[in-house]
Amino acid sequence: MNQLATELNQALDQTVAGRLLSQLGREMYFPKGIVAQTSEAGVKATRFNATVGMAFEKGEPIMLDGLRTLIPGMSPREAVAYAPTPGLPELRSLWKESMVAKNPSLAGVATTNPMVTGGLTNGLSQISTLFVDDGDTLIVPDLFWGNYRLMMQVGRGVTVESFPLFTEAGGFNVAGLGEAIGSRSKAIVLLNFPNNPTGYSPTLAEADAIVEMIREKADAGTDLLVITDDAYFGLFYEEGLLTESLFARFATLHDRVLAVKVDGATKEDFAWGFRVGFLTLAGKALEEEQRSAIEKKLMGSIRSSVSNSSRIAQSLLLRTLQADDYESEKLRKRDLLKDRYATVRAIVENMTNDRLRPMPFNSGYFMAFRCNGISAETLRLALLDKGIGTIAIGETYLRVAYSTIDQSDLDALYSEISATADSL
Ligand SMILES: Cc1ncc(COP(=O)(O)O)c(C=O)c1O
Repeated sequence: MNQLATELNQALDQTVAGRLLSQLGREMYFPKGIVAQTSEAGVKATRFNATVGMAFEKGEPIMLDGLRTLIPGMSPREAVAYAPTPGLPELRSLWKESMVAKNPSLAGVATTNPMVTGGLTNGLSQISTLFVDDGDTLIVPDLFWGNYRLMMQVGRGVTVESFPLFTEAGGFNVAGLGEAIGSRSKAIVLLNFPNNPTGYSPTLAEADAIVEMIREKADAGTDLLVITDDAYFGLFYEEGLLTESLFARFATLHDRVLAVKVDGATKEDFAWGFRVGFLTLAGKALEEEQRSAIEKKLMGSIRSSVSNSSRIAQSLLLRTLQADDYESEKLRKRDLLKDRYATVRAIVENMTNDRLRPMPFNSGYFMAFRCNGISAETLRLALLDKGIGTIAIGETYLRVAYSTIDQSDLDALYSEISATADSL
């Protein structure tokens, strides 16, 4: 094993992070290669800096005129230069600040510095590199974003074990989560709120119960990697919901809990194709030395996969976050989606179709129907024939991304869905 990896492992070994490392995670380190030498030269090479694999003219990265005219407000460095492996430092700091503003309980809590990843998908992949081994079990509610299976089961050889997301009463199934964790020595739990595909977020009481249950499992000796996928963070439409990330609770919960926050600009900032996500870790047991070791291992993982993330997207996001009207504009867009939510809620509450039962929803981009006596896939295909696109999840659930439909079209959309279900 590389000496740098050994040193990082020694820093982590007495903590939950060390115990949870995968084999690949143990081997990972950030080499003192081109990237590290270039950043050293960035400080000291005041005469000639002939380090990085880029091309310069008069001190600025070369940029084609054709490109320059498309983005006149942006310097070549902001547009086409490489970004550092962990992301632009100013963007990372600003994201951290905004994370604390959005999650006030994180104030004063030590976390790793958010690391830029190629979207949330890539963040999940990086965390899997460090902590997920072939043969591990991933615990998720039974309604989850399908890509988890591709990533974890197909990509990493993990067994996906799910529990019913909802209780009979239509709340989050805390007991089901507890049973799925059981008394394992290592548990990997992935929670996504607002949830894809249902659009559900837990109430405050449910969040308290989830946190308490994780604490009990940790007390009983389970080492827990708890990943919160906060892709749709902030889009909460009802009173009484947990409006902070569960990460804020897990970050200081217990020595046996390693909390991971996967979030990003993708959905929150309506910048889907930017491919800018962030990965942040925290744990009660982690001191500065361990957080730094985790960051170095993550940098190694990023360097060895995507190397670094899109510079222009990071520069644009940085400027967007710095803009005076950023918060107010974001709020206006959130309100637009909230209005659609209110309309959809009124529509489905008045819908008397016993073939379609709306699942609980209160946040995010989606809602889903449970199909009774008809196949969701058959319904999807029948809707497609009428020029309407929806997503079937297996034979049972139909997901509707009402976030994509203008307010004025929602009545027509749901009437067609209901009429088509009746016609099958
Ligand atoms: C729950 C969830 N996480 C992550 C993602 C993907 O995010 P990104 O496009 O940034 O990779 C999605 C996209 O649909 C999602 O629904």
